[in-house]
Amino acid sequence: MLSRREARAHSSNNFIFDHLFFFSYKYNQVLTRKMAEALISVLLEQLVSAVYQHTNEAVKLVLNADKDVKSFSSKLKAIQAVLEDAEKKQVTEASVGDWLQKLKDVSYEMDDVLDEWNIELLRQQAEEKQEVEGDNALVTKKKVRFPMSSGCFCFGQVNKVIHHHNIARRIKELNEKLTLIAAEREMYGFHQSTIGDHHERFIQRQTSSLVDVSAIFGREEEKEYLLSKLLRESNQDGGRFLVIPIVGMGGMGKTTLAQLAYNNEKVTAHFNKKVWVCVSDPFDEVKIAKAIIENLDRTQSGSNELEILLQSIKRRVEDEKFLLVLDDVWTEDHKKWENLKLPIIMQSCAKGSTILVTTRKEGVAKMMRATKSTIHLDKLSDKDCLALFNSFAFLDKEEDEANGFGAIGEEIVKKCKGLPLAAKTLGSVVLHKKTREEWQNVLNSKIWELEEVEEQVFRPLLLSYYDLAPAVKRCLLYCAIFPKDYDFKKDNLIELWMSQDYLNSKGKKEKRRIGQYYFESLAMRSFFQDFEKDEMGNIIECKMHDIVHDFVLFLSKNECIIIEAIEGINQRIELSSDKIRHLTLISVPEGPLPTLCYGCKNMRSLILLHSSITTISRGSIIQMKCLRTLNLSGNKISGSMLNEVPKEIGELIHLRYMDLSHNWNLKELPDAMCELYNLQTLVLVYTCLWKLPKAMGKLINLKHLYVGGCGNLRYLPKGIGSLKSLQVLDWFKVCEGDDEALKLGNLGVMDQLQGSLDIRGLGKDDASEIEKALLGNKEHLSHLGVGFQFALGEQRKGDSEIVKALQPHQNLESLTIRCCHGTTESLYWIKSLHNLRKLYLSYWEFCEVLPPLGKLPSLEILDIWEMKKVKKVRVEFLGIEEEEEEEEVSGILFPKLKKLTFFGMKNWEEWALLSEITIMPRLSELRIKWCPKLKALPKFLYKIPELRTLEIKGCPILEGEYEKGVGKEWHNISHIPNLTIQSGWKRTYVVF
Ligand SMILES: *[C@@H]1O[C@H](CO)[C@@H](O)[C@H](O)[C@H]1NC(C)=O
Ligand SMILES: *[C@@H]1O[C@H](CO)[C@@H](O)[C@H](O)[C@H]1NC(C)=O
Repeated sequence: MLSRREARAHSSNNFIFDHLFFFSYKYNQVLTRKMAEALISVLLEQLVSAVYQHTNEAVKLVLNADKDVKSFSSKLKAIQAVLEDAEKKQVTEASVGDWLQKLKDVSYEMDDVLDEWNIELLRQQAEEKQEVEGDNALVTKKKVRFPMSSGCFCFGQVNKVIHHHNIARRIKELNEKLTLIAAEREMYGFHQSTIGDHHERFIQRQTSSLVDVSAIFGREEEKEYLLSKLLRESNQDGGRFLVIPIVGMGGMGKTTLAQLAYNNEKVTAHFNKKVWVCVSDPFDEVKIAKAIIENLDRTQSGSNELEILLQSIKRRVEDEKFLLVLDDVWTEDHKKWENLKLPIIMQSCAKGSTILVTTRKEGVAKMMRATKSTIHLDKLSDKDCLALFNSFAFLDKEEDEANGFGAIGEEIVKKCKGLPLAAKTLGSVVLHKKTREEWQNVLNSKIWELEEVEEQVFRPLLLSYYDLAPAVKRCLLYCAIFPKDYDFKKDNLIELWMSQDYLNSKGKKEKRRIGQYYFESLAMRSFFQDFEKDEMGNIIECKMHDIVHDFVLFLSKNECIIIEAIEGINQRIELSSDKIRHLTLISVPEGPLPTLCYGCKNMRSLILLHSSITTISRGSIIQMKCLRTLNLSGNKISGSMLNEVPKEIGELIHLRYMDLSHNWNLKELPDAMCELYNLQTLVLVYTCLWKLPKAMGKLINLKHLYVGGCGNLRYLPKGIGSLKSLQVLDWFKVCEGDDEALKLGNLGVMDQLQGSLDIRGLGKDDASEIEKALLGNKEHLSHLGVGFQFALGEQRKGDSEIVKALQPHQNLESLTIRCCHGTTESLYWIKSLHNLRKLYLSYWEFCEVLPPLGKLPSLEILDIWEMKKVKKVRVEFLGIEEEEEEEEVSGILFPKLKKLTFFGMKNWEEWALLSEITIMPRLSELRIKWCPKLKALPKFLYKIPELRTLEIKGCPILEGEYEKGVGKEWHNISHIPNLTIQSGWKRTYVVF
């Protein structure tokens, strides 16, 4: 994250921190050039595809424009072919740089114009839809009464025509501009590059098996593990041979570790034959086979026939204990890997033979079916990093000379964030620097200002970058809008990418799926790390390594900037150029959104982080006409006091993403918001909104609506019911007797709902409304939460009927039902939920027996709270019939259950389950709290090997029985490692 100190130091007007000026035009470096080229070609690729997309839909409407757009995009494509050369030439000719900038600008502008056009179409659609769905009868009547109107040239239509001409004219102008740009191209005499060129040119890394062992720091554990695997007794690990992939991001030291093992004396003695092959990209089977042969007997191989080569390898290694290192593998193509037939060859080797592979891609380990034996290389500790750095930095310094630099060295090492390659590189940067001042300069500079870093550290990252598909590159670059150390939320990120139109595909593939896939592509190549998972193991959050972040920032250069505000300073932010497309403001203090000067007319994203603005002026909004993404979310902890969104928001016609969450003063939204026909995601969680605009049904592109935590919101407007393609609706509140309210039954048409849906306030509606909601059809929904109205001690007859009608689709993974006054018999359908992994039932006041859950094959987490009438838990809980003979009970009950909690079961006395069948064999955590009458735990629990946590709280009888050392039953549980037995608040002891 940018520190305030930094921000002050670099800002001319005390307010801003701007990366833009950090690039001191040292474009005379090969690498820099290539990076810029990468950015532009990706951008153009996106634009070309956007142009095509629009051409199909929108452009047909207006005469001639069609032709112009086609001509535009074909010119763009032609230019794309010479971009690479242009990038090189801009080094020597400043005019080429200008030319490229013009090209970018005109492309962006075209994207905007086409989008506007599209909006025109969307508006028509929305209006027609309103007419049809709205007051159906009324409209028909109107039409009957004024038959003239359809043919009449009313004002609206005049406007429309003018508007169309306007757009057509602008397209024509842009096309002319591009014609000029294209003509200029001729002047420079660029030559075309061929596809796939860059790959081969860049990825020419050669490694060898030689290593300076003295230069290895850290990695002790990984080294030991690897050696033990290599030197394993041949009868271990079952199979004849083992494949061991070492996976980690570029610069993590994978090759070094492999070299270390390869040169280890014991390893050398252990294997009869060993070979090191540097694979890199592209994966060429013939080349690799030849390299293996050459390495085996130091002769050139004559043949180019793969089959002959493979036979020849086989002859040489048959019955030998063979170690093969494949360094730097990139391909995930099964076919190529299978062609090489290495596993077959290895079968003929002696037992204990091994293939050691280094790669940055998790997918490679998967392809080789070796995920089990994978070694992941992660960050080095600061201590090891320092040692590594010192070994380079002080190579030629006397010890006392070195002393004076130690402290600065430590600070410099912090920049490396555990990346060995960075430590080595920075160590060699300072090697020849003699004065403290010079060291201090290294410390103060941005990491990419150091030529060596750019060459050495960014290069491996660049290789990974080139390996990405163009659209994925774009997604990665967008991450530059967030500061260092940011917690990326996966779903959020995907929605942001979507808002920038990065997730388009030719087919009909769903955008979220594409986003998910892109996220995985990036994660598998270590661009993301530190994954945070939810209870069920799904990735929800991740971070980006600092150096990767630097790299991304470097690539996206003057398109993205982050500005940290300093409290008490003026209200203006001077943007240095109008080429800025994405702006992030951090820590903007209470008060109006600062005025953004000059630069915002082309901005496509504005994101506020940790900010507390109170107002946003009309003027500011109107300035930012090109915005796609707007995040005015408040500070999560203190909330924000933004109390009004001006109606001018409706003019941000390109807007696709709007986050207004955590603005605790926000009570209403302007109706004009419903004109945002492009809007896909609207996040309003934790606001004070008490109603939403009536016409929300006009938001025909809305896919994600988040309103959870809006306690004041009485209902959702019924217009939402027409948004059939809504994919996320996180919250629904039942509202009685208001005609404006969306009804549960309206959810019936939304068969694409996914993620999580929470329904509140059930109990008064009758079951038929719920039947209409067709929850059973929502095959993509993963969590369903249902809450009945809370009413203590009052019977509610309808609840059981409602529960029956709730029956969800069998794909559901997580289910919560609270405050139901029905009986658990109504949950008869639960048996069909084969994918249910988590179940939470609470406050079923009138329920006397637990539902049958033992046969749910996927259930992992079960929470049962406040079932006050339950006295006994018996076979019915297992899901088997009382009269069912024990022999007839086949299989295992609760086969996957890992966590089980009972809480507040006031009258529960007996827990008796058959001990002859296998129950809960995987249980690892059991919690029983506030169950004062429970007498004993069932015996089967004593024998569960995986049970590691047992917590008993506020259960006086159990507490006596199981008291440490003295309780009658103590010996049965004393083996459990994490034991907490706590009675009331009186006594506490924890045994580990
Ligand atoms: C919007 O900002 C808030 C914090 O200010 C953050 O939590 C949220 O993730 C942001 N949304 C996006 C899409 O970046
Ligand atoms: C031990 O049990 C306590 C109480 O349930 C829990 O908070 C803690 O996470 C457990 N520790 C381990 C290592 O499982």
